Amino acid sequence: MTDTYYITTPIYYVNGAAHVGTATTTLIADSVARFHRLRGERVFFLTGTDENAQKVADAAQKAGQAPKDYVDQVSRKFSEAWTFLNVSNDRFIRTTDLDHKAAVEEMFTRLQASGDIYKGFYEGWYSVADETFYRDSEVENGFAKETGSVVERTTEENYYFRLSAYSDRLLAHIEANPDFLMPATRRNEVVAFIKEGLRDIPFSRRNNGWGIPVPGDPTQVVYVWPDALVNYLAAAVWPDKAGWDGIWPPAAHLVGKEIYTRFHATLWPAMLMGLCLPLPQHVIGHGWWLVGGEKGSKSKGNMPTPQEAVEFLVERSGAAHAIAVDALRYYLLRDIAFSSDVEMSYENLVTRYNGELANNIGNLLNRSLNMLAQYAGSVVPDAAAQTSDCEVATEAKSTALTVEREVLRYNPGGALEAIARFADVNNKAIGTAQPWKKNKEGDTAAVAQALYTALEGNRILSVLLAPFLPATSAAIRDQLGIPDTVPAKWSDASAWGLLPAGSTTSGGEPLFPRIDTKVRPEAQAPQALPAQSSTSGPDKPQADGSATITIEDFKKAQLKVAQIKTAERIEGAKKLLRLTVDVGEAEPRQLVAGIAESYEPQELQGKRIVVVANLQPATIRGVTSHGMLLAATDSEGRAILLTPDKESALPGSKVK
Ligand code: MSP
Repeated sequence: MTDTYYITTPIYYVNGAAHVGTATTTLIADSVARFHRLRGERVFFLTGTDENAQKVADAAQKAGQAPKDYVDQVSRKFSEAWTFLNVSNDRFIRTTDLDHKAAVEEMFTRLQASGDIYKGFYEGWYSVADETFYRDSEVENGFAKETGSVVERTTEENYYFRLSAYSDRLLAHIEANPDFLMPATRRNEVVAFIKEGLRDIPFSRRNNGWGIPVPGDPTQVVYVWPDALVNYLAAAVWPDKAGWDGIWPPAAHLVGKEIYTRFHATLWPAMLMGLCLPLPQHVIGHGWWLVGGEKGSKSKGNMPTPQEAVEFLVERSGAAHAIAVDALRYYLLRDIAFSSDVEMSYENLVTRYNGELANNIGNLLNRSLNMLAQYAGSVVPDAAAQTSDCEVATEAKSTALTVEREVLRYNPGGALEAIARFADVNNKAIGTAQPWKKNKEGDTAAVAQALYTALEGNRILSVLLAPFLPATSAAIRDQLGIPDTVPAKWSDASAWGLLPAGSTTSGGEPLFPRIDTKVRPEAQAPQALPAQSSTSGPDKPQADGSATITIEDFKKAQLKVAQIKTAERIEGAKKLLRLTVDVGEAEPRQLVAGIAESYEPQELQGKRIVVVANLQPATIRGVTSHGMLLAATDSEGRAILLTPDKESALPGSKVK
């Protein structure tokens, strides 16, 4: 058996860039991996890219590139995105890597030798978008019922895998191992799927010049799913005996729900049974991020890249880059659900940011350090023993247990919820202890105890947060004056009194500056996501865009023609321009517009545009905007200004 905690993500198709959806699975795995490392365990965390698919070859062709050049380039972008998000994977595997190819050949040869792979003839449906074979009953009017993807009729001679032979063994394994398939709702789905009857499935496709050739038959390539699944074995150095025993089987395969039932919960365990290899301990499927009620995806282009989302946070909050990365991590880990799908929006991101990071966790650190500076010259008081039974100390122990339980259930959202609650208990404890009052009353013992409790609470928070928000954890420790030479370890989360009396803190700027929500969120939101959540209020827009407003509603907006007088960039804000515009009033108005990536300031001078003239003023990056201009968006997300058709529409003319 293994002494290593081995966790994997799906390997992502390289037919498009990483986005916040693919980032989510990677970050769940990252936080779980970091948690196990923090407990002192040996961890092997694997992610990578799936490159031998037909749709990848098609994407390369569309990009006018040789497939290998194309996959090299997109795969690099994935690994850069994970570095950007501070992902701590131990290996980034690519299915074009030679060791992967050798493992796939070995898998094929062994299953052929054991009679599990045999030559056959396929006539049925194939969807390139899903890289999936579908039966007649799974197709309606040329589309796969499950996904809505286009299918094509395929007839080809190829190799089959005897999946049908594994139904009973799979059901028996699922029954005997209640935690094999998680969460429980997905287990029921899989059992129903298997009970419907498993059929043998094609294991190869015609060789069109891209993919791993079938050993001994170069007219065929290995079907991309068995090829891709073998990455989990290849990275564990299978079948090389020397390194093999230490890593296999994985503790956890984490995947999104669309590749759960058919591939990770059925085909993959059956392949492993055929290879006489132990099965993974857990296969966990999470739900989707939805955008406007639909699955967010690469092909729809409705999900921002992690870089875009972080840039949004930096621009809106002024937080340091590494902290903004953590804020995105927080939102994705906090809100992703395992048994259901969740709507994603910048509005929800900002709500979590302000509510739990700025007002709660960040505020706790800031006010604790400010109080220490004010009442004790930034020197940690000697009150560990006197506070060891306080509410915060007790709460720390139970929070550590909850976080542990939630992480072991692969539920980072539950863990972060408990951590936010802990920060809240700390904030309330300060409110109850009232050190400012005790200080006035000259009660130095009470002041010392309140300060020590607050600081120790922050130290504990730095440990609890470490698996999820590594940069924030490090920043908290740094501000508390804990030297780098004292790394956090998990047991420190339930210990009291580790912050040494007499040490000095170095409190600085707030880690999570509040985001001003009066600012129109889309002013700087990347175009890929709606700024408003469709789950956010009583008068939410319908997902199909059919919500209507009355003419009275519309008349509330005063739209006017304006003429741009001056335009200039706003320092430190890549997307913003400061404009002065003539709206037919005595003085020109100042506007802030998120169009700096679409227009050069000099090309704007003199342009006639349309503005909302009666919008509440809002301050963005220190510049107040008195109104908002109207712009459309082109297919590449560039802003296109709306201008009146004739010069005779003078500044100040009403638009209705
Ligand atoms: N290449 C296969 C996986 C092979 S694993 C042996 C594949 N790749 S993919 O690029 O399409 O990535 C799919 C995975 O990305 C999902 O299973 C999920 O982990 C993640 N997500 C993609 N879109 C997502 C959402 N909208 N929401 C949540 N997760 C998202 O399938």
